[in-house]
Amino acid sequence: MSAALDTWPPRIRPMTQLDLPAVWEIEKNAYDYPWSRGIFVDCLRIPYVCEVIEERGVTLGYAIMSMGGDEAHLLNLCLAAPARGRGLGTRLLEHMMARATREGVGVLYLEVRPTNKTAIALYRRAGFRRIGVRKNYYRADQGREDALVLACSL
Ligand SMILES: CC(C)(COP(=O)(O)OP(=O)(O)OC[C@H]1O[C@@H](n2cnc3c(N)ncnc32)[C@H](O)[C@@H]1OP(=O)(O)O)[C@@H](O)C(=O)NCCC(=O)NCCS
Repeated sequence: MSAALDTWPPRIRPMTQLDLPAVWEIEKNAYDYPWSRGIFVDCLRIPYVCEVIEERGVTLGYAIMSMGGDEAHLLNLCLAAPARGRGLGTRLLEHMMARATREGVGVLYLEVRPTNKTAIALYRRAGFRRIGVRKNYYRADQGREDALVLACSL
């Protein structure tokens, strides 16, 4: 099999230090208040579950999750803008949910901006339900924005 066919369709694999330039580029373009490069370095070092989705050697997106005991927290899920709307965010989310399930996690939590309708639709379809609100959780153009806390029983 040729190398090109070998990496088709998009595949999910663990993130490494070598992915950080591409990951951070996606992060900077995706969010008004992106994580710093150092946060990604820390996530790899801790280590959290850090995965990338790539196609033909090009990094299209990534997901980061912390796990502890019965709980896990999805800390970041992000696709490069040209890669959105192809079901890859759903695939990456399902991959993280399956990983948490395999590790014996009972509940997966995440925070999302109430204005992020795309992400909320994605999470609801995957089985997440709103369980609360964290007041003034996110930076925003004018002051702070609340976070919706979503949870999914695995
Ligand atoms: C949120 C995000 C990960 C979704 O990834 P994606 O690959 O585009 O999503 P999918 O193609 O798997 O679509 C899943 C669902 O999301 C919704 N969705 C996707 N693109 C959408 C769009 N442009 N407008 C509205 N809803 C959309 C739909 O409900 C879709 O379901 P469908 O298949 O019935 O249309 C992606 O938009 C992203 O990276 N956004 C920037 C970073 C971000 O906000 N991350 C979430 C932080 S909590």
